[in-house]
Amino acid sequence: MKILVINGVNLNLTGKREKGVYGVETLESICAELKEFARKHGHEVDCVQSNIEGEICTFLHGAEGKYDGVVLNAGAYTHYSYAIRDAIASVPTPVVEVHMSNVHAREEFRHKSVLTEVCKGEILGFGKNSYKLALESFWL
Ligand code: DQA
Repeated sequence: MKILVINGVNLNLTGKREKGVYGVETLESICAELKEFARKHGHEVDCVQSNIEGEICTFLHGAEGKYDGVVLNAGAYTHYSYAIRDAIASVPTPVVEVHMSNVHAREEFRHKSVLTEVCKGEILGFGKNSYKLALESFWL
């Protein structure tokens, strides 16, 4: 299987920002680990990141026919981006929503995701392993 991992706004700063919440490992290092994890299981992962809402939509549009699935951590866009929600609903490629932190144990505005309803499923609270569990959900 070929899976696209999309990271959204501020996730480029993973390893540098709010280390107590998101850990000290950089996004680059996490993505390298995800690629290796997928390779060991006979699958392929591409990783992209953008801070721009429309660019994330374009990544989702481009996934159709090219990837078997998408793992998406949209960052704070999760909580209010109807554009990303509509992009997910517009393509047949299944999308699994991911969060490193347990958003339900944090501020109230993080308790609501406008994306979950149009996603195949959601995995959250397991740090970088949230991404691995989401990848596994495609091939298990
Ligand atoms: C996050 C949770 C979001 O609420 C937050 O805005 C992020 C990261 C997570 O991975 O836990 O940027 O998606």
